[in-house]
Amino acid sequence: MRMRVLCFAALLQIAAGDMYDVIESVAAFVPPPECVFPMNWTAALNASEQALTFADPSILPSLGAGCAIPGRAISHSYGQGRGNELTPLEQALFYGPACPCRTSNSSAAAVEFHTCVAPLYVPEQINLQLANATTVVVSFVSHEPSPPTEPPLARLGLASDGGPPRATLTGVSHWYETSHANGSAACQGPDPARACTVRNITMHFIRFTSLAPRQQYVYQVRSGGNSRPFAWSKVHSFRAPYGHGAAAKSGGSNATRVAIYGDMGNVHGNNMENLRAGCASGAIDAVVHMGDHCYNMGNGNDYHGDAYMQAFQGALAVCPWLPVIGNHESTLGSEHNIDASTEQRYLNETWGVIYGQDGAASETRTARSTATTSLGHLLTRSSFYGAASHGAAPSRTSQWYSIDLGLIHFVILDLNPGPPAAFAGAQLAWATADLAAADANRANVPWVVVTSHYPLYSASFEDAESAHASAAWYEGEVAEHERRGDGTPWSETPGFESCAEGNATCATVKDIVADSIHTLGTLLDAHHVDLYAAGHDHSYSASWPIFGGAPTNSSYVDPKGTVHVLEGNGGVPGAHTRSKLFPCKKNSSHAGGVVPLSSYRMCGFGMSYGRLVTTNASVLTYEHVANAGDHVTDTFSILKTH
Ligand SMILES: [Fe+2]
Repeated sequence: MRMRVLCFAALLQIAAGDMYDVIESVAAFVPPPECVFPMNWTAALNASEQALTFADPSILPSLGAGCAIPGRAISHSYGQGRGNELTPLEQALFYGPACPCRTSNSSAAAVEFHTCVAPLYVPEQINLQLANATTVVVSFVSHEPSPPTEPPLARLGLASDGGPPRATLTGVSHWYETSHANGSAACQGPDPARACTVRNITMHFIRFTSLAPRQQYVYQVRSGGNSRPFAWSKVHSFRAPYGHGAAAKSGGSNATRVAIYGDMGNVHGNNMENLRAGCASGAIDAVVHMGDHCYNMGNGNDYHGDAYMQAFQGALAVCPWLPVIGNHESTLGSEHNIDASTEQRYLNETWGVIYGQDGAASETRTARSTATTSLGHLLTRSSFYGAASHGAAPSRTSQWYSIDLGLIHFVILDLNPGPPAAFAGAQLAWATADLAAADANRANVPWVVVTSHYPLYSASFEDAESAHASAAWYEGEVAEHERRGDGTPWSETPGFESCAEGNATCATVKDIVADSIHTLGTLLDAHHVDLYAAGHDHSYSASWPIFGGAPTNSSYVDPKGTVHVLEGNGGVPGAHTRSKLFPCKKNSSHAGGVVPLSSYRMCGFGMSYGRLVTTNASVLTYEHVANAGDHVTDTFSILKTH
């Protein structure tokens, strides 16, 4: 019996987006023991199914019976708790690369799909995390039966030198232990029979420092020092960041070009291929992912997080990134959240402690985490090694940090709900100091961009029903399951929760947005932040400049406030639609939010991402790019004439 492809074929035709096939980076994966009779993909899928499953079906003859994450096979509902809607192949892919198998040694036997097993000692999930103008941290994962006794290695060299990279560097390894108990939320996935027990993941971090600006480098990595049986990765290549001062301001080929978006996942139609191709062509040099990375990295005993990072390696091994923490990586205010596991995984995989720094001197060579899951440490603590240990105001946490990237100072914030309050205390004090320093450094870095996962101004807020929606609903996963990002008003989605009039204990979206505007918005005003970007709301809107809680003018020439961009659908599961634009006023029958709808220049929805481009202190251009076809569908430029 062939796979049940037809049931989602129509959905694939709706959104022919871009997602590459993951083949090479999972080539060492093997079929699991229960796959007794492996078979070739060409035999498992007919020609029509091959075209609906792989981005490039021509690779299938050479793939044979190998393991793969086919770029078009991952459904719109992947990871959204809709296990019953997934095909057998999609269910297998939830946990990692998959392979086709027969149920018996007969050519007429039924076809089934299984999740492949990761090899021991082989680097995977390779990603380059930006640290400062001359430093990136290569992060990767390996699977080993016990903690490595030697530090991880990297070979690094200039591509222009030719040949393989020769300089050997060492880093740190982190023995990560999942703590998912059977039946916990972290075990959620489409296969309820799959065991959810403690397992170990080894995470590695190696710094590439003193990089020459804009030069092409080659590198490869391995775990466990020089001892066997640890394996080297293949050689990857990347462009170094922009450098300081004149190197960053020379314009032309050194223009600052960055992709920026939130809410991606690794479903079909996302922007991973756009990012990989954009970095290769020079359309972008780095990626800012504004949170909600995987939906959710802790699910399926962290195998889902592994699958996401295995897929993302195709872009992030060659294109450095800045990760931002979203509600799908946070346990704060988790009344509606099932992601307690995910925060730990996220923070772990961005850990990278520097020995002897920040109290880390007592760590052993193979640092043992006290975290309880694995994506959590991917994204937060790595800042000790990465961006958060640098700059004018080091934050010491990857939940919030900043970096000068070419002509733009990026400030990364964590606005996940409290308690404590979303934007207060140590984060508020750090952001105040950082933005003051950045505003005083405009001669060197002329543009200041602030990001977090949550918007302060979104055209979606201005609908009366949306403004009075329950804040807990808005911040939690329940709402994200239902907000499909197709222009449907929130109040018309199943599961919508509103605060009854007069209920003083029910915080509304308007309440929490007003609070953020009062705290963070005031800071944006005080330090003349040029642009604030966010995700979470799975749509697109671009405001006119806003100051003091009100639009200042319907122009971007010499703006007297901050432009607010919402770019919240890099490829959200369940929001699988083509990018579309529309005048904001058409999306709301009556205002009820915090500013008039006329405060917004443009609205839209569907899978897309943003590009920030600047070559000097006078022009900062924003491009809204559809994932499907990589077309710029909307653009505007902030101009400074004096
Ligand atoms: Fe979100």
